[in-house]
Amino acid sequence: MSDIMERKAEHIQVCLEESVESGVTGGLGSWRLRYRALPEIALDDVDLTTSIAGKTLRAPLIIGAMTGGHSEAGAFNRQLAAAAERCGVGFALGSGRVAIERAEAMASFQVRDVAPTALIFANLGAVQLNYGVSAADVARLVAETGADAINLHLNPLQEAVQPQGDTNFRHLAPQMHALADALDVPVFVKEVGAGIGRHTAELLAAMPIAGVECAGVGGTSWARVEAKRVGSDAQASAAGIALGAIGIPTAESLLVCRETMPDRVVICSGGLRTAIDMGTALALGADAVACALPFLKAVNDGGEEAVVEVIQTYIHQLRILHFVCGATRPSEMRGRVSRVDSSGLARP
Ligand SMILES: Cc1cc2nc3c(=O)[nH]c(=O)nc-3n(C[C@H](O)[C@H](O)[C@H](O)COP(=O)(O)O)c2cc1C
Repeated sequence: MSDIMERKAEHIQVCLEESVESGVTGGLGSWRLRYRALPEIALDDVDLTTSIAGKTLRAPLIIGAMTGGHSEAGAFNRQLAAAAERCGVGFALGSGRVAIERAEAMASFQVRDVAPTALIFANLGAVQLNYGVSAADVARLVAETGADAINLHLNPLQEAVQPQGDTNFRHLAPQMHALADALDVPVFVKEVGAGIGRHTAELLAAMPIAGVECAGVGGTSWARVEAKRVGSDAQASAAGIALGAIGIPTAESLLVCRETMPDRVVICSGGLRTAIDMGTALALGADAVACALPFLKAVNDGGEEAVVEVIQTYIHQLRILHFVCGATRPSEMRGRVSRVDSSGLARP
């Protein structure tokens, strides 16, 4: 295995075996959905259908970007993608850098045969634009994976904690702008668990991108993952633990992205674990939600069937949440939420 393949395999192992969540609240719990005892709709009126990047989803849910590169990752990708296809939700591949560098790794990202119609995102760290990756490389990744869109991820914290990480983030914004212009699929920009704040959101708003995935603090912490992975490197490990909570909490990042990019797609992620988290994110302005770690655990424990079960459970509960908030569509959830004050009560 190459260094990158080994690192990716270790990421999966650490995420499955260690406690890698930030332990910091993403803030969604400070809001309460506006339950309606008299919703004036029927449960049958609820239609969760959502359109993202030209594809129709049966519910506004995406399996978040995770993996690829080695054979176990390839097997996970196939099972996750097949589950997404069966349930009509989106699926995001993990970073394709390894496939750009090594042709033999591409197969682990190719899932179109098991997910012919699903919304699929390819993925690449934006910082790779400073390390020799060209627009032609990215176009090839998109073409060879058959992806409908690409996620460019931003991960300065992770790279800085990681020994020998790729930490030259100079002049990326103009290069991302040019890449989005050059590609013929929609470009999304995501964090990996430290969130998108106002300064970054304003830079992104000036780019010709289709949308963002906020991936705020509150779920998987990449500083923590790296800290556990590089246990023998005391400095790196200490930095990962000390800085695991830095970043923008999920709810704050979502609100900032929505406000800064009112006409773009905003996907909320970062610690979404329950249907109530997801419903709250839709109410705070998300067009769709994504989660990663719960699906990694499901695919590891029980393969495609377990992933299907998790998705169906989320969708079933999301439908009920829409019903009891009187919303027939995800877009109608927007605003049906109140802030809980220090007494624990919400003032609608
Ligand atoms: C095992 C694993 C691998 C990941 N790899 C990537 C990646 O390659 N590219 C990326 O953009 N995000 C990656 N992420 C970050 C997720 O897409 C997501 O933004 C983050 O984990 C927060 O969501 P969560 O709290 O639901 O896990 C990875 C997450 C996990 C758990």
